[in-house]
Amino acid sequence: MPSDLRHLVPLEHRITADQRRARNKHAGAVLWFTGLPGSGKSTLALGLEQRLFDLGAQAYSLDGDNIRRGLNADLGFSPQDRHENIRRIGETAALFADAGLIVITAFISPYREDRAMARAAAGQAFYEIHIKASIEVCERRDPKGHYALARAGKLADFTGVSAPYEAPETPALVVETDRLSVEESLARLIEFARTKLLNV
Ligand SMILES: Nc1ncnc2c1ncn2[C@@H]1O[C@H](COP(=O)(O)OP(=O)(O)OP(=O)(O)O)[C@@H](O)[C@H]1O
Ligand SMILES: [Mg+2]
Repeated sequence: MPSDLRHLVPLEHRITADQRRARNKHAGAVLWFTGLPGSGKSTLALGLEQRLFDLGAQAYSLDGDNIRRGLNADLGFSPQDRHENIRRIGETAALFADAGLIVITAFISPYREDRAMARAAAGQAFYEIHIKASIEVCERRDPKGHYALARAGKLADFTGVSAPYEAPETPALVVETDRLSVEESLARLIEFARTKLLNV
């Protein structure tokens, strides 16, 4: 820690997490989706955000574009920048959760160490959710054409092809999108959110 940060005094909010929970009728949380490219993170994050909104909850998804074009516009794809990308997303998601929102993050986030950092930022409010599909199914879907580019050697360090994916060891929920339809997957996620976050 830089020496001039040692004298920072943490600010105590006057409004407590309980007060925010009572107002919103749900807990603030980070629903951290992780999974291979094409596993369905963005599809399910947007679907879940919509369902939660319809139920009256404060929900917001963080995904590639709204982060890479703004907060992280200065970052590239080197190992250090990918690490910093996830660190900033983790801190941002934790702030949103602290503000009482249900934040859904939809990043591949292939490294356990990076996800552990995001968990540390959000503490008890963090739920790791594995959006799981086999590499074969993801590659067949190839919604952005990235697998084809990676196989052709035109996209380096592509998760699942030329870079590793470290699956979660103890996720709070696994959604097997290669066995379930989008609707069925969303039903699992809504059930999870109802049980853990709504009316608590
Ligand atoms: N059960 C399911 N859940 C989610 N998506 C599904 C499911 N079944 C099929 N799909 C399809 O799989 C594709 C998933 O693409 P999506 O962009 O959501 O993946 P992603 O995980 O966000 O990928 P990336 O990491 O590249 O952003 C979509 O075309 C979606 O319609
Ligand atoms: Mg996506």
